Amino acid sequence: MSFKVSVQPAGRDFAVEPGQTILDAALAAGMILPYSCRNGTCSTCRGRVVSGSFDAGPAPARILEPGDLAQGYTLLCQARPSSDVVIEADEVRMSGDIVVRKMPVRVQALAPLAADVVEITLQLPSAEAFRFQPGQYLEFLFKDGRRRSYSMACAQAQDHRVQLHVRHMPGGLFTDRVFGRGDEPLKARDILRIEGPLGSFFLRDDERPILFLASGTGFAPIKAMIEGMLMRGDRRSAVLYWGGRRPSDLYQADLAQAWQAQWPGFRFVPVVSDALPEDAWAGRSGWVHQAVLADFPDLSGHQVYACGAPAMVEAARHDFVHQRGLPSQLFYADAFTSEADRAEVQA
Ligand code: FES
Repeated sequence: MSFKVSVQPAGRDFAVEPGQTILDAALAAGMILPYSCRNGTCSTCRGRVVSGSFDAGPAPARILEPGDLAQGYTLLCQARPSSDVVIEADEVRMSGDIVVRKMPVRVQALAPLAADVVEITLQLPSAEAFRFQPGQYLEFLFKDGRRRSYSMACAQAQDHRVQLHVRHMPGGLFTDRVFGRGDEPLKARDILRIEGPLGSFFLRDDERPILFLASGTGFAPIKAMIEGMLMRGDRRSAVLYWGGRRPSDLYQADLAQAWQAQWPGFRFVPVVSDALPEDAWAGRSGWVHQAVLADFPDLSGHQVYACGAPAMVEAARHDFVHQRGLPSQLFYADAFTSEADRAEVQA
């Protein structure tokens, strides 16, 4: 027997099957709620259950603050209703020509960007358009049922090609292949299967100045957003803080510097946490979100787009909202969750 989910303030209803999560049921019904990881590690899908009963799963207590839990907030990618429910959640408006599809792709090229980062160019089928919002991601679908998520690092598919930035995670199912390890190294012309575009991480129409925050390869979707703005001639005031352990982790800093020359309202602030003497680093040091805290006494008039390690994203969300007055609904994030992050949630 299915149950009814009523979404406020949108005033929309959809059915959820036994054992199905609220997020999966919403997406199946064509309603997009905010989401990123879909596995209980990022909190992007946080929503409030106003009435009805549900199984929250173990994840919310690990991610949400006690005060949030007491008010009925939960993770909609984990919540499974056991009665009709009414929830409060933002609906994401997406252009109607963006359709999630599964399709085969061919590896067109693998190009190193840093010692532990490779750019993969994928050739998409020429028969169908692959439209997405800059900032969204795709998933590789493997034969054993496992999936791996990567953001498009480009604003749109050009000549039916998209680029991804892949950091090597030693022992990682897919990244070991990308870096030539294991029995089946990935190479040009290999065929893979993908699903996409996915996620709700993309620019909203809003005149407020933008703060982009990235760590490591979290730069990829933000690069896509900024290049989309450049292509459209969108010249809102924006600043990018990009953090890494060593200067070499900011593997396309030259590109970000070049954006400053093209766009007078844009600033780039590179931040390095563990520079070695041989790096001769003379720029900002420390954690990237703390550099923002040091520079901005008040974020109440900003919108923030953050992507990178879950710990960085969650620290930024907490401190920007609680210490700098950022309205929580103006913090948009995509967290790069690893297998270790997932294992921790499921333990
Ligand atoms: Fe639910 Fe990430 S989408 S926690």
